[in-house]
Amino acid sequence: MAKGVKTYDWRIVLWIGKFVRPYLWVIGILIPIVMLSVAIQAGLPLITRTAIDRYIMPTYHKILPPPNVKIEGLIPYKDSVYLIPTARIKELPPALYRQLVASGRLSLVKYYYKPSQNLLVRVDELHKLPPRELFSLRHADILGLYRLATLFVILIISLFVTQWLSDYTVGWLGQKVTHSMRMKLNTHLMTLGLPYFHRNPSGRILTRLTNDSRKLQEIFESTLIVLVSEPFLFIAIAVVMWRLDHRLAFIGYGLLPLVILLSNLFRTRFRRIYREVRRLLGKLNSMLNESFMGITVIQLFNQQSHILDKFDSININYFRANLKRIVVFGLFYPLMVVIQYLAVALLIFYGGRSVLANTLTIGVLTAFLSYLRMFFRPVQNISAQFNVLQEGLTAAERMREIFESKERDIDPVTAKRIKVKGDIEFRNVHFAYNSTPVLKGVTFSIKAGEKVALVGPTGAGKTTIINLLLKFYLPKEGNILIDGIDLHDIERTHLRSQIGIVLQEPYLFTGTLRENIEFGHKLSKRELDHVLESAQLKSLVSRLPNGLDTLIKSDTLSAGERQLVSIARTLARNPTIVILDEATSNIDPETEYLLQVGIRNLLANRTGIIIAHRLSTIKLVDRIFVLWDGKLVESGTHDELLKRDGPYATLYRLQYE
Ligand SMILES: Nc1ncnc2c1ncn2[C@@H]1O[C@H](COP(=O)(O)OP(=O)(O)OP(=O)(O)O)[C@@H](O)[C@H]1O
Ligand SMILES: [Mg+2]
Repeated sequence: MAKGVKTYDWRIVLWIGKFVRPYLWVIGILIPIVMLSVAIQAGLPLITRTAIDRYIMPTYHKILPPPNVKIEGLIPYKDSVYLIPTARIKELPPALYRQLVASGRLSLVKYYYKPSQNLLVRVDELHKLPPRELFSLRHADILGLYRLATLFVILIISLFVTQWLSDYTVGWLGQKVTHSMRMKLNTHLMTLGLPYFHRNPSGRILTRLTNDSRKLQEIFESTLIVLVSEPFLFIAIAVVMWRLDHRLAFIGYGLLPLVILLSNLFRTRFRRIYREVRRLLGKLNSMLNESFMGITVIQLFNQQSHILDKFDSININYFRANLKRIVVFGLFYPLMVVIQYLAVALLIFYGGRSVLANTLTIGVLTAFLSYLRMFFRPVQNISAQFNVLQEGLTAAERMREIFESKERDIDPVTAKRIKVKGDIEFRNVHFAYNSTPVLKGVTFSIKAGEKVALVGPTGAGKTTIINLLLKFYLPKEGNILIDGIDLHDIERTHLRSQIGIVLQEPYLFTGTLRENIEFGHKLSKRELDHVLESAQLKSLVSRLPNGLDTLIKSDTLSAGERQLVSIARTLARNPTIVILDEATSNIDPETEYLLQVGIRNLLANRTGIIIAHRLSTIKLVDRIFVLWDGKLVESGTHDELLKRDGPYATLYRLQYE
């Protein structure tokens, strides 16, 4: 058992334990419920045994105990004749038994005995009695059967209730634990900085919160109950079988190693096959997803059949893996059934023989039929749950990794909240996302109220400068100052609330246009009107079916319109510094014009940095900084730079002419 669980798993179990701790009392409730259910399951066949041995076929033998031998628990019948129940014959020492039979002191003839009337009838003569007499003779037995049947029904209903209760309890526990885990995980994620999200694809993070938390939930919903109840059930059955009859119990014990071996063998195979099936399904999904997302390109390049060929090869592998799953699965369960019935065959032979030899009662034989079939089930169930457990623990490990990441987006305690005026200074700033340097000593300063354009080829580090200014990343070397104060000492949330930014690719959330503009920052009707006017959104609003309350998504508006909404969102916060990372996408002349007006309004009375791609935007600024390969190579006005005929002039000729 311990082989399947690697040592690192115990750390994860402890970690999951932290989330379970508030609900430990639930486990306290669960255990007595489970114990009751186990006791009922292990006890039911005993009722059948009692019904048969005590009420249906209670048989006795006449015995004449030899004077020098003392036999316990005999029932005095007449004179020196005693009675012994068939069930007790096997307790006689074999030598004594043989001697008694040989000397005729123990008769093998079976009798029915009624103690109240001290009445003895040969069993094979019972059927000769008229039904009425038989009925009155066996009245007490019938009453006993009635009581047992009632008890049986009560136990079955109790079993139903305990099983429902325990299923509900573990289900509840699983939901509670994963619910709080998802909440804590997401709370933690929100405190992580952009570097974390840049390194981890959003799909992967999403999987942690959805798929992985569901796998963990399965541990609670199916594994926990099995691991808590099945070992007890197994032990209970093993003990009851032993108490009932040692020799027959060995049929079960003897076949056990075979069952364990097969279960383990199949478990590892199941695991491998399931992994393969899932891997191929994932491949199939992403392939389909990609081909539908890129359908325009596929049709444009007439690549339909090529894509179908690729799809077919994955599809056929998926088919084969599934077929393998069906074959292996189809082998396992029938094999287990074969072993069960092998046990039954052995029981019929040995048990039947013992019944004939008077050393076993039919009631015990019948009970064994049930026990042997129940005996192997816990082993199979536990083994099957090991895979679920492993999957769940691996999922938990992946979730824990998120908690381990310490790239928190928080400031040192010394950071202050300052009211920004708008002076910006970079002093010999160096930066790299990983090992390749991106900024190699950038120095510049911008006065409050000044408007500057940042130009440079793609990948030069323009967006990076903005990321540093907003404290999304920290410089490796050099200083960034705002109003002469090092960014290090300014609280980032306060800083970001005073810098407005229009991103290169503005993101709109699913919601109304109004929600997207306000974005948690309520505006009065007058303020909103002013924002719409300044951001040139009036005409768009009048065109939308429900005006400001129209539901929009990131892809329902054109690129230009998204920029306008983003400008409005920035204006709504009335920031001191504005940053515009201009989109490179083409925009129709009419929207282009609206954008120019919107941008001009955005820049009015503010410090502004524009990463410009359009000549018309460049013309709005006081100075131009040219960034080339991580360094600021020139600065000046458009005319000055053109006259100098340096990098800017080259860029300008490449881009704008
Ligand atoms: N999150 C990141 N992790 C690693 N490298 C990055 C990351 N973001 C950007 N880079 C790299 O840093 C360099 C500068 O990128 P940056 O986005 O600042 O360029 P840019 O000047 O804004 O370009 P563009 O005009 O295309 O927007 C590029 O080589 C880019 O590949
Ligand atoms: Mg950029």
